[in-house]
Amino acid sequence: EDPELLAAFEARVAADDFIEPKDWMPDAYRKTLVRQISQHAHSEIVGMLPEGNWLTRAPSLRRKAVLLAKVQDEGGHGLYLYCAAETLGTSREDMIDALHSGKAKYSTIFNYPTLTWADIGAIGWLVDGAAIMNQVPLQRTSYGPYARAMVKVCKEESFHQRQGYEIMMAMANGTPEQKAMAQDALNRWWWPSLMMFGPPDANSPNSAQSFRWRIKRDSNDDLRQKFVDITVPQADYLGLTVPDPAVTWNEVKGGYDFGEVDWEEFYAVVRGEGPTAKERLKARREAWDNGAWVREAADAHEAKRRARLAA
Ligand code: ACO
Repeated sequence: EDPELLAAFEARVAADDFIEPKDWMPDAYRKTLVRQISQHAHSEIVGMLPEGNWLTRAPSLRRKAVLLAKVQDEGGHGLYLYCAAETLGTSREDMIDALHSGKAKYSTIFNYPTLTWADIGAIGWLVDGAAIMNQVPLQRTSYGPYARAMVKVCKEESFHQRQGYEIMMAMANGTPEQKAMAQDALNRWWWPSLMMFGPPDANSPNSAQSFRWRIKRDSNDDLRQKFVDITVPQADYLGLTVPDPAVTWNEVKGGYDFGEVDWEEFYAVVRGEGPTAKERLKARREAWDNGAWVREAADAHEAKRRARLAA
């Protein structure tokens, strides 16, 4: 790579300029962005499944309408992000192939089952809450199309977080059985939510380079800490308890101490061994196969249109 181009690129990044699709960029920058943005897109798309599972069983018409809107938003985020990745020269087909063949990663969080309605509350509150924590700083990530996509995504994620917390409030203030369901959902989703931020900084192979290129703005551990600090008082307000006896306020650091994430479980889920991993990929492959007729019809329509234009 031309050292002058590289130096100019690094100076622009250091000055907080946005890098745009037609600008020169190092191959490794392009590659790591395709990696992160496509994983992010897959997460949004696979993330529609655990909640979509409850659309037919939402407890009221209002809950159903809200959940439907939320799941559709996630689909929109995925499509936005695939477009952002395409500006880097990759194709939608390649990204989707990588997902369906099990080669591409997507967030570990979507490999856990949604057992009760309270899980829909817990996902909105915790999973979307964690997603916002990670995505707000990405509005200033150095690649322009990714940063701009995050602006709309974050606005919608905050609606998702509120709808989840509102479900939790209703459940936590409901019958003793409903409150128990809310606590059970918190117990099951707490640790997987902490895993969303990625491995500890000391074991995060991509962090150093991504910081240098300002793709990443905050570290995995810093965001995890911030999430715990904001979420523990929210659990208190609900009258629920986070499933970690080590959670204690630490006056000196001005944040909560908390226990160690089960990193063995995290790496197993990253390897594709999560409780619902097979089911998720099967659902995505089937959706793709069942949509073949739409792609074929669009191709046939385009061929006719061209033939008409040529005639
Ligand atoms: N689930 C699956 N894989 C993960 C997770 C996770 N929770 N956390 C880290 N990994 C993977 C990384 O992708 C990386 O694998 P790779 O090198 O093969 O791509 C590996 O573990 C090591 O992690 P890091 O070196 O820390 O990777 P990175 O610097 O990319 O940081 C992070 C990981 C924080 C997830 C980053 O990629 C990111 O901010 N992504 C955008 C946000 C996102 O994808 N959110 C998805 C869930 S939220 C949602 O809205 C649906």
